[in-house]
Amino acid sequence: MVGISHVAFREWVRLFLPEDYPVWVFTEMLSSRRVPSQNLKFSNHLQITAQEREGAPWVPQLLINEERFVRPSIEKLASLSPQGIDINMGCPVKHTLRHNWGVRLMGDPDYAAKVVKWCRKEYKGPLSVKMRLIRTEQSTSDYMYGFIQKLKEAGADWVTIHARYKENKHAGKAEWNLLKGIRESIGMPLAANGAVSTKEDIIFLLDKLNLDAVMLARVVMAKPWLCWSFFSEHKSLDTVHVKAEEHGFSLPDTPQEKGTFYLKAVCFFADSLEKWFASDKERMEKLLFFVTMSHKWFDFGHSYWKGLKSKHTWQDYKEYLKSYASKEPLSLLQRSPIQ
Ligand SMILES: Cc1cc2nc3c(=O)[nH]c(=O)nc-3n(C[C@H](O)[C@H](O)[C@H](O)COP(=O)(O)O)c2cc1C
Repeated sequence: MVGISHVAFREWVRLFLPEDYPVWVFTEMLSSRRVPSQNLKFSNHLQITAQEREGAPWVPQLLINEERFVRPSIEKLASLSPQGIDINMGCPVKHTLRHNWGVRLMGDPDYAAKVVKWCRKEYKGPLSVKMRLIRTEQSTSDYMYGFIQKLKEAGADWVTIHARYKENKHAGKAEWNLLKGIRESIGMPLAANGAVSTKEDIIFLLDKLNLDAVMLARVVMAKPWLCWSFFSEHKSLDTVHVKAEEHGFSLPDTPQEKGTFYLKAVCFFADSLEKWFASDKERMEKLLFFVTMSHKWFDFGHSYWKGLKSKHTWQDYKEYLKSYASKEPLSLLQRSPIQ
């Protein structure tokens, strides 16, 4: 997620991910026009964490639609040994559409397949595409089947579908039920994305719809413990360990415990921002964006966010987070703000 899944976020979120289970963490979408000239050591977009360097699965996501950028982008990303490479064909924001990439590629299946073919030629690891649902004169399922079939022939290994129509951007209901039929027809692995908010949602998508994977997005900022709780409770695995336990975190149960967990986790996020970003301005922007996205899940979240917004220095930001975490009650709302 742009503005969210930067290196500091990825390091932070891994604190809460089971160490021995396959959770892949994706980068923000990266522009293939910029990657070739970006410096691996100094570009915030291309930095990776020590754990990622040692093999923790991470996946860079590329915005790409011109052949001349394929080799230099992929060579550079592949040199960092990611778990795979993902191509963005789902982003509906204006800026992306202007460049004819993101979801624009879904309007031209043959061209989209060409993009996959170019990438396949340069990259031998797992290659995936993230996309949206498309409304056309054909049924959505038929269109998606035809589109994905072309990508498969071009060399894609798996796909993620954000199960909202492109016109709905990030709001409203996700059409999860359509995914089951699409999965059966395409005969390749499909990860479900969109409006996933609870452990029960994950179980429904994996066990009831028989999908291969679930991609969590906004929920992770508010409930960073979600994968931990899924693996330890649903899979009944006693051996699930997360690094956060060393810092006194335990799986929360009540809405209040979830609020307390979140406030403490945000303090750790601030520490990670401080480690990875040198400028206070950048740290403050990234922290405020994170809280802007995540406070909506909590009762009193608005006052937490408003208080943060009124601060003017990084030091004030950090002190505010600490004092809020030790005093004020927040509790998780019953209803998810993304459904
Ligand atoms: C701020 C923001 C930035 C996003 N950036 C990306 C991105 O870079 N690449 C991508 O594939 N999707 C991006 N998305 C979409 C999410 O990955 C996800 O598909 C969408 O939020 C639906 O999932 P959710 O309802 O569980 O949040 C972004 C969404 C938001 C809100």
